[in-house]
Amino acid sequence: MKRTVLAMTRLLPREMDLLEQEFEVIHLYREADPEATLQHRKNDVQAIVSSPGNPIRRNLIEALPALEIIAQYAVGYDNVDLGAARDRQIKLTNTPDVLTADTADTALALTLAIMRRVVEGDVYIRVGKWLNGPMPLGVSLAGKTAGIVGLGRIGQAIAKRLAAFEMQILYTGRTQKPDMPYQYYDDLATMAAMCDVLVLSCTGGEGTHHLVNAEILDALGPDGFLINISRGSVIDEAALVNALKNRTIRGAGLDVFQNEPFVPEALQSLDNVVLLPHIGSATHETRTVMGKIVVGNLLAHFSGKPLLTEVL
Ligand code: GLV
Repeated sequence: MKRTVLAMTRLLPREMDLLEQEFEVIHLYREADPEATLQHRKNDVQAIVSSPGNPIRRNLIEALPALEIIAQYAVGYDNVDLGAARDRQIKLTNTPDVLTADTADTALALTLAIMRRVVEGDVYIRVGKWLNGPMPLGVSLAGKTAGIVGLGRIGQAIAKRLAAFEMQILYTGRTQKPDMPYQYYDDLATMAAMCDVLVLSCTGGEGTHHLVNAEILDALGPDGFLINISRGSVIDEAALVNALKNRTIRGAGLDVFQNEPFVPEALQSLDNVVLLPHIGSATHETRTVMGKIVVGNLLAHFSGKPLLTEVL
């Protein structure tokens, strides 16, 4: 008999077909009444496929007595209550490495878009403003300093790209990485005061909640830009809105938000911010490989083989 998988998120069609060939799939994301479906099928669910927008809290884990594994369709897994998963000895997998380049590219796209006013320039033409004269100038990347918060796989890929744009690279994080050619700061505020662009590529969760608050934004200063491709929870969004409104920082490029897919109206109305709908890894190529890893982990688990990308 096929095992039952609760899909809380969509995979691309080919990988979803693969999943369906091997498992009975409950497509929760397309149910009109997901709560009722969960209630009805709670004893059947042996695996979950989830993404950052799917909270997997203790009450859900405890409500699924047959649950064995959570296969996260993302590298980050701060949506999962790790303590609850550990208590039940639930396995957890993610999709690291394969999305590093695309996510770093997204950080670069945001940096270029906000500093060189790319989105504004597009609108400038479409509304006919160019006919009345040139648009305001942007800010050079070359010769500026970028501070990276979290020099993990994605942070390193961002650093490499920004260095290619002739920026000086600083970083902060839990530990210094002596093999890295960049200057380490153990204090975020001190680093923020030293840089023109602060790039967030750390993990989400309690340890980084509101790490970037009013004090850090003040330290970044009126010429500083903030880029976030990590998690919305890392920034105190209300403090950011104030800083952008009062121009106490110059601009921001954001791929992630506190309460996705809801983006505060206040952010949407500002002209010194570029907004993306959490598309860090959203390419055909990367999402295909991520889907294969998700299915591969589930197959490995239920056939007693080592997991491909084990977290827990
Ligand atoms: C995306 O946010 C991821 O964690 O992969």
